[in-house]
Amino acid sequence: MGNSTEQAPAGKGRIFSGIQPTGNLHLGNYLGAIRNWVSLQNDFESIYCVVDLHAITVHQDPLQLQKSTREVAACLIAAGISTDQSILFNQSCVPQHAELAWIFNCVTRLGWLNRMTQFKEKAGKNRENASVGLYAYPTLMAADILCYRATHVPVGEDQKQHLELTRDIAQAFNSIYGRDVFPLPNPQIFGTATRVMSLRDGAAKMSKSDVSDNSRINMTDDADLILQKIRKAKTDSDALPSEVVALSSRPEAANLVGIYAALADCSTENVLAEFGGRGFGEFKPMLADLAVARLSPIGDEMRRLLKNPGDIDAVLAKGADRATAIARPLLAQVHDVIGFLGKSTDH
Ligand code: TYM
Repeated sequence: MGNSTEQAPAGKGRIFSGIQPTGNLHLGNYLGAIRNWVSLQNDFESIYCVVDLHAITVHQDPLQLQKSTREVAACLIAAGISTDQSILFNQSCVPQHAELAWIFNCVTRLGWLNRMTQFKEKAGKNRENASVGLYAYPTLMAADILCYRATHVPVGEDQKQHLELTRDIAQAFNSIYGRDVFPLPNPQIFGTATRVMSLRDGAAKMSKSDVSDNSRINMTDDADLILQKIRKAKTDSDALPSEVVALSSRPEAANLVGIYAALADCSTENVLAEFGGRGFGEFKPMLADLAVARLSPIGDEMRRLLKNPGDIDAVLAKGADRATAIARPLLAQVHDVIGFLGKSTDH
């Protein structure tokens, strides 16, 4: 891949990232994405999007979708996203995303999409019945990022393949049309919890759609529920080891230690230095206290913000205007490059 197109648009690099409003925002979303979004705001021009177009790749009840969209926005604000500093909006309010996704559908090869593991997981055995939208999901994701010529994309580990595809699509477009329109964005996957696993199964990722609510800690869970879920979390019966290597064959223990390290902002080694040799009976209550200390202020603030849904809608509308001001001229340029006739300067 060439590097000539990788520089930031101007000054600071530009971040884009998104999150689906499909209910049950959880600790994995927070540790794998949201808290990094908050800390990156100062160093980058940041654009954060509630991806409602992505949500409908699987049917969503309309009222529930509105509620979840406001909840995600409230959670991001409660976690520390500044809506003055960063742009926060919902995807369907900026039609350039869907338009660029269509253009990318015409550049993306079927073979590339066939390799996407998330589609295989989400479509399951009944692939014939999955929506075309679910299949084309990654081209919309590429459009989200490239609409803003974003250079950096903070995500959890599970989105890595989609990010690689985004780079391939950007490169394919640039090469087909012989113009460096799109930079090749860099995935930013960092921290100790890039893949938080289910509390019930150390081999499955913590997910909004898991049927068992005990598998995840939701951002809105109260202290009692967090304690109860951590107490019930699957573990083995051995004490915690003192060495990190010994966690490799103990996925559930590794997950809880990883969560502790991420919440305490320290390394796995530090956690084991403190808890090595101690049993889960001692470790779990300490983990629960830490999780409550970190999450409950966010949950409380989220609930407060959600009492005024009109204010959240106004924030999202303002964000959509700011996002459109960036995406519209980019689409005008794309029209020119492709050879679309018409109001390219007044797109
Ligand atoms: P979504 O809504 O599934 O998740 C939002 C973010 O949370 C991260 N995440 C996790 N991190 C660690 N452990 C977990 N168990 C875990 N579960 C989720 C995800 O990696 C993600 O960063 N396709 C995206 C949304 C999207 C997007 C984009 C992201 C749409 N357009 C453009 C970046 C750029 C998704 O479904 O995220």
